[in-house]
Amino acid sequence: MAVYRIVQEEDPVLRQKSKKVPAVTPNVVRLLDNLKDTLAAQKTGVGLAAPQIGITKRVIVVRLQEEENFYELINPEIVESEGAERDSEGCLSIPNWVGEVDRAARIRVKALDRMGNPAEYAAEGYLARVFQHEIDHLDGILFVDRAIKLSPAEQEK
Ligand code: NI
Repeated sequence: MAVYRIVQEEDPVLRQKSKKVPAVTPNVVRLLDNLKDTLAAQKTGVGLAAPQIGITKRVIVVRLQEEENFYELINPEIVESEGAERDSEGCLSIPNWVGEVDRAARIRVKALDRMGNPAEYAAEGYLARVFQHEIDHLDGILFVDRAIKLSPAEQEK
């Protein structure tokens, strides 16, 4: 397990379409652990996608601040989405900006878990937003592409 450097905005890897994981091998499990370690090492941030550590595989992790456990999604796919909500977003790869982004209010996501078993998640509100943001990363889409309005992020002291 290891903490990786988070790839920044101008790196073309963030614009690539990530590849579907054909089988959940020990390498993929290691990738999940590295993503979790890297996210846990940040002061802020609630999700991380594999391309953000330079690996173009369809793998994401999410952890809401008030929760202990990480969501680990391999080959996530949004199978239903409903409603719309506008809220503020930022990204560890674009630390200097925040933006208002419209997202579906409720989604269902299918994925594989670390055992390679199918898993399904129903998410709404903020969790739904984070899933959509991270899944966008797998298609080379950044929140700044979708933002209605961008503002400078508050600098951390
Ligand atoms: Ni992001």
